[in-house]
Amino acid sequence: MIKFINITKSYPPNIFALRNVSFHIKPGEFVSIVGQSGAGKTTILRLIIAEEKPTKGKVIIGGWDIRDAKQNEIPLLRRQIGVIFQDFKLLSKKTVYENIEFSLQVIGTPFKKIPGIVSQALKIVGLENKARNFPPQLSAGEAQRAAIARAMVYRPKILLADEPTGNLDPINTREVIELLLRINELGITTVLVTHNREIVNLIKKRVITLDQGMIIGDQQEKGRYVI
Ligand SMILES: Nc1ncnc2c1ncn2[C@@H]1O[C@H](COP(=O)(O)OP(=O)(O)O)[C@@H](O)[C@H]1O
Ligand SMILES: [Mg+2]
Repeated sequence: MIKFINITKSYPPNIFALRNVSFHIKPGEFVSIVGQSGAGKTTILRLIIAEEKPTKGKVIIGGWDIRDAKQNEIPLLRRQIGVIFQDFKLLSKKTVYENIEFSLQVIGTPFKKIPGIVSQALKIVGLENKARNFPPQLSAGEAQRAAIARAMVYRPKILLADEPTGNLDPINTREVIELLLRINELGITTVLVTHNREIVNLIKKRVITLDQGMIIGDQQEKGRYVI
């Protein structure tokens, strides 16, 4: 589903965000990517959504070498991939409902179909009763769940989460992680970037450890946070 083959990503003059990184994430896998700040975690996600191009190597998504993707195919690729962030990136002047509705409008979803899709997404994350709230009227945990609902409406094949619990207390952290695991059980390949050691050890799934742009560990199952 996601294949990195000898990926190096450098920025001038001599910053190496990733050095010769290779891995293969199979359909339906749940993978945590861990490592200290600056290790290259976000760079991996940005390469997956083709926001950055590798300096060397190949990124293959769903069997597709994304170097071959034309500019107008990139939005199609991105629609297969839901992304959530530490700071939620909700539009604060729109309600939860409108935030999700907006994502559907930009891809030209027929307007009659929108309410049903939005309700279903809110149901998955348990936020039906907050649909009319604006983001500032949500707790951080609810805001992240709203962002997850929004990421789900395109029915992505892949969900990428970049430090999604970075702003959450331990209870909300658990809730969000449990939600990601449930989403993964629906068959969505899930990549979680985090430096929360306890969470990674609790998840007990594959863990890829990065240090200074290099993979220093790839534990296939029952992975533990090692650095
Ligand atoms: N656009 C950029 N220009 C220059 N350096 C960058 C850029 N993006 C990331 N880097 C550098 O690449 C390294 C890895 O960054 P990043 O992937 O964001 O790390 P992480 O998400 O693990 O904290 C860091 O040293 C960072 O400063
Ligand atoms: Mg990062």
